[in-house]
Amino acid sequence: MDIPAKVIDDLNRSARDASRHAYAPYSSFPVGAAVLADDGSIYAGANVENASYGLSMCAERNAIFQAVARGARRIRAVAVYAPTATVTTPCGACRQVIAEFGADVLVVCTADNDAVEQRYLIGELLPQAFGPAKL
Ligand code: THU
Repeated sequence: MDIPAKVIDDLNRSARDASRHAYAPYSSFPVGAAVLADDGSIYAGANVENASYGLSMCAERNAIFQAVARGARRIRAVAVYAPTATVTTPCGACRQVIAEFGADVLVVCTADNDAVEQRYLIGELLPQAFGPAKL
């Protein structure tokens, strides 16, 4: 079922708003993400870095873990925003975490130029994924 344009707008705005809370002193690359759960709830997150660089966490995973910790079990879409000219797509680790919720999760990537919005299904970004059905 298609997600209404207004809901996608709300999701994109939530991702953009969340980027303001990014803690990115090492990369100076703030990212915001927002998750649309199947009941219409939206959960947001930002990247959180650490002086021990490898412990840093991406915005997408922070948003998804926020959603799950608050009780969401099905995810319909994930929006990703970075304050750049071109869009940022999720890293490999985040693709795997998104794919946990099915190959049909919509990934919407936005940047400062609204014209560059890109949409994918996670199954396109991570084909032949390992997932719960394999276990
Ligand atoms: N980052 C995200 O939060 N999401 C992405 O999709 C790409 C990268 C973060 C990780 C790190 O804090 C910074 O951006 C630079 O890689």
